[in-house]
Amino acid sequence: NITPAVLPSLLQCDFGDLRGELERLTKAGVEGLHLDVMDGHFVPNLSYGMPIVAGLRRWTDMPLDVHLMISDPAAYIDAFADAGADMLTFHIEAVENPLAIIDQIHRHGIVAGVAINPDTPMDRLDGCVEATDAVLVMSVKAGFGGQAFRPEAIERLKSLREAYPDLLLEVDGGIKEETIGDCRQAGCDLFVVGSAIFGQSDYQTAVSRLRDLL
Ligand code: DX5
Ligand code: ZN
Repeated sequence: NITPAVLPSLLQCDFGDLRGELERLTKAGVEGLHLDVMDGHFVPNLSYGMPIVAGLRRWTDMPLDVHLMISDPAAYIDAFADAGADMLTFHIEAVENPLAIIDQIHRHGIVAGVAINPDTPMDRLDGCVEATDAVLVMSVKAGFGGQAFRPEAIERLKSLREAYPDLLLEVDGGIKEETIGDCRQAGCDLFVVGSAIFGQSDYQTAVSRLRDLL
């Protein structure tokens, strides 16, 4: 159990120097990595897939938290598990039978997460929160880094925390020094951070300032 933890989102990092980034993040003391997989279909942006996960897996023992922003998670879950993901999170908006996907993830012995976009009603999660290990509350619409935090996420985190004391809660989008504390107060465990780390020259300072607010 690594919570509460700051998880850097590898979306705005230097992909020409992934091992250097890994080294800097390890030195900065992060407890895991958040990997944003986008298919250009579920979201209008395209990032990377299994080879990056497998490549990072060869160079770090840190937990790899893979955020699947893809239209057909069932088709790729086995491949991402084989690539070395420790946690696989799919979007509730993308699937018809979330319970089957959660089962598929669990068959690999890894952590299952369900993500929900800000404009999706919370009742879409009915019936699957009990089955999943984690809920990822999106505090921006999935697709791009650097967007502004949507404060409705706080109420979502609070109500999930009240209803499910043991659920792993993760928040993603616009997390920085101004927003991380409120999310922690609301009961969140995992804090995904993109720009507020990769936009800084010194990752160690950026990470420790964020951690001090948890
Ligand atoms: C957005 C991604 C995020 C993103 C966060 O779709 O899921 O993980 O990289 O970036 P910031 O922290 O800049 O909002
Ligand atoms: Zn993400």
